[in-house]
Amino acid sequence: MKRAVMALVVAACLGCTVEGPEGPIGPAGPPGVSGGKGPVGPQGDAGAQGPPGAPGAFIVLSERARRGLEVAPVKLTLEGLTSAQVERVGAGSYLVNAVADCGACHDAQGADGGRRALAGGQRFTLAPALGTEVYARNLTPDANTGLTLSEDQFLLIMQTGTDKKNPSSSLLVMPWFEYRWMTVDDLKSIYAYLKAVPPENNDVPGDVKNDIPKVTMPLAFGDGDVPRPLLPEATRDADGVLRGFTIQPLAQPDLGAWPANVQSLFGRGSYLVNAVGRCNECHTNPARDPTTHRINTAGYLAGGMVFTDPTGPHAPASLKRSMSRNLCGATNGYTAPFTDFAASLASGLRAGRSPSESLAWPMPTWALSNLTTQDLEALFTYLRLVPRRMGADDKPTVGAVTACSASVACPGAQRCNLSAGECEGACDALTPCPACQRCVAGACVAPAANDACLTSGL
Ligand code: HEC
Ligand code: HEC
Repeated sequence: MKRAVMALVVAACLGCTVEGPEGPIGPAGPPGVSGGKGPVGPQGDAGAQGPPGAPGAFIVLSERARRGLEVAPVKLTLEGLTSAQVERVGAGSYLVNAVADCGACHDAQGADGGRRALAGGQRFTLAPALGTEVYARNLTPDANTGLTLSEDQFLLIMQTGTDKKNPSSSLLVMPWFEYRWMTVDDLKSIYAYLKAVPPENNDVPGDVKNDIPKVTMPLAFGDGDVPRPLLPEATRDADGVLRGFTIQPLAQPDLGAWPANVQSLFGRGSYLVNAVGRCNECHTNPARDPTTHRINTAGYLAGGMVFTDPTGPHAPASLKRSMSRNLCGATNGYTAPFTDFAASLASGLRAGRSPSESLAWPMPTWALSNLTTQDLEALFTYLRLVPRRMGADDKPTVGAVTACSASVACPGAQRCNLSAGECEGACDALTPCPACQRCVAGACVAPAANDACLTSGL
């Protein structure tokens, strides 16, 4: 039994060093035996064998925190932390590396092509004509170029988007409109994780933008069809289930008719979708009203957003364009069973396709593949049970377009349209063309440069 517990401690601390308190001093004897993940008992004098040092403190971590420590892409500094603090770092890592995927924007590419986790510097050009461009910040604890915010400042930024570099303005690209609905507890865990990653020296350029009006953290969720007050932060809500009910943007389905475990999965799923995972920012097109910033509930999770010419350290060269999938349409929504859903997210491959086909960028499968089974169930339950989109809002979304060039050929029977840099294949009533291509006399044709699909999607 004891062995099993120790194995758990070691598994929990894969790649980290957490030491328990010292064992008691052995009477005269050879070196004390190492405690379970604790320090070695102190040296005894020559003489009779002393008893072993006491085992180090057991660190009992939640499943999510354990997963977080396993999947952290960097070596974390955990020396001297209490088990409660290690739990926080692990839980934060899980949020960052398995759900929110902060690295999609905040990772940098090293000189050797490798990833410099959270070092910042990716550029986002918003209005080329106006010269508006902002840079993802360095979130590592580097003293000169990194994140030097206190925990309170960090919470304020995550909840209000306040731009510390330009204090009269708000952050523009950073998705704080979603993240602000995370529980304070989860935001604190993310902060703890950001303090535990290795510092990266990377001086990020200043932003060029007009001031964005500042907002305060609301007391009620007002982004959807039904305003709902947020429960007091002191309410026990470790999994964000209650927060999830509050920030579900549509009229609530008849929750009372479902078994309690389904209700919990739905609440947790809503929390993951609407606060942490940004699913809505890509799977609703457009995601929000540009003026009121309210969620476009008519098209909620019905897909159709278009992503062109990948950028960033996770971007594949083989992709020209993708379209987010309709997840919640009555007819065109996602209907695969849970096993396929879990398999696609875990492997990054589209289930049921042969030969296997990767899910296209920027679907953050590299992060979502780290989800626990329970969270996969929560996501699936939410996407299944949230009210459906109907009629014209239920969009028939399509697959991705492969990039090609004079030196990179197209797969299968597709041919390369060299001037557009994309592959074109065959189409018919049952086989629609991929993202923004048009079907002309049985063949897919690349869109004209001014095709509205390229800028506005479906
Ligand atoms: C879609 C891209 C994107 C994602 C995803 C993203 N960020 Fe950001 N973040 C940015 C950009 C860009 C900025 C700075 C410029 C701006 O947004 O105006 C920024 C700024 C910040 C700042 C302000 C730092 C400072 O120095 O004031 C913090 C803190 C931050 N991000 C944390 C996070 C965390 C934590 C996550 C994941 C939970 C995350 N970001 C996910 C793009 C992103
Ligand atoms: C940054 C944009 C982005 C975010 C964030 C995002 N997705 Fe996606 N997602 C996409 C795109 C694009 C596709 C289409 C990929 C393709 O065609 O291969 C997609 C496809 C999917 C699919 C279809 C899989 C299949 O087998 O066809 C599912 C399911 C899905 N996303 C679920 C989610 C969930 C759940 C979240 C939030 C936890 C999420 N996505 C967040 C962009 C995104």
